[in-house]
Amino acid sequence: MTRFVLRSLIVIGISGFLASTAQAAGDPVAGRAKFDACVGCHSIPGWTNVYPTYHVPRLGGQHADYVVAALRAYQAGERRHPSMYANSNILSEQDMQNIAAFVAEAQATERPSPVRGNVAAGQVKSETCVACHGPDGNSPITLYPRLDGQHEDYLRRTLQEYQSGARVNAIMNGIAAPLSAQDIADLSAYFASQSDGLTVVRKGSN
Ligand code: HEC
Ligand code: HEC
Repeated sequence: MTRFVLRSLIVIGISGFLASTAQAAGDPVAGRAKFDACVGCHSIPGWTNVYPTYHVPRLGGQHADYVVAALRAYQAGERRHPSMYANSNILSEQDMQNIAAFVAEAQATERPSPVRGNVAAGQVKSETCVACHGPDGNSPITLYPRLDGQHEDYLRRTLQEYQSGARVNAIMNGIAAPLSAQDIADLSAYFASQSDGLTVVRKGSN
């Protein structure tokens, strides 16, 4: 009996999880049109933030739920970046859902960029990350951002920001706190080097 109840609870838990991941209610066609405002930075391979210099993050294939959460955080000023504040501020909740649905379905069109850090060392250190981000940085749980194929310098920058507290997230501030500069470099190289990962969103190919 106990075992039956337990099994039912697990089944309910799993179906509840599937229902919650399936509910990203965006319309990718409407999102594609809204993405016009974003292409100047997010659709140009190699485009960088001006100061400090780091690559604009890849959005293609990113989990829709995380994209919406990131846009809400910029809009609310919880995550601070002047251009992203200006670009998210004008979006409605539905716009954010639509854009997220559009970028999430982009297929990888390019190989990951060559990395500078030590991929093998990063793989060993990534054991503390996989419970949430998945072994290759592509977690099935959509609130955990995909890291696979993301730009190495963006990953470094963002881990430094969690460490300094410039980017606030209760989980990631704690995770980043004990990392050395070498750990950050190695982990960023490992996740950035994963193939079939995130990609630049090109409007023409979607
Ligand atoms: C002027 C250049 C620029 C424009 C235009 C722009 N972005 Fe960004 N975007 C950036 C930069 C730079 C970052 C990284 C900011 C940071 O470090 O937090 C970023 C970050 C993001 C992130 C977070 C990614 C992550 O992995 O956390 C999302 C989502 C995003 N942008 C979506 C958009 C959308 C949607 C638009 C259009 C409505 C847009 N951006 C327009 C430069 C831009
Ligand atoms: C307990 C779960 C958990 C663990 C373990 C974890 N993360 Fe995260 N990570 C998160 C969550 C949740 C976010 C989104 C936070 C936010 O919105 O700022 C995140 C965000 C990130 C981001 C930002 C991605 C982006 O696109 O901006 C990076 C980089 C990152 N994690 C790297 C790591 C690394 C490296 C490790 C291991 C050393 C790790 N994480 C361990 C939950 C976790």
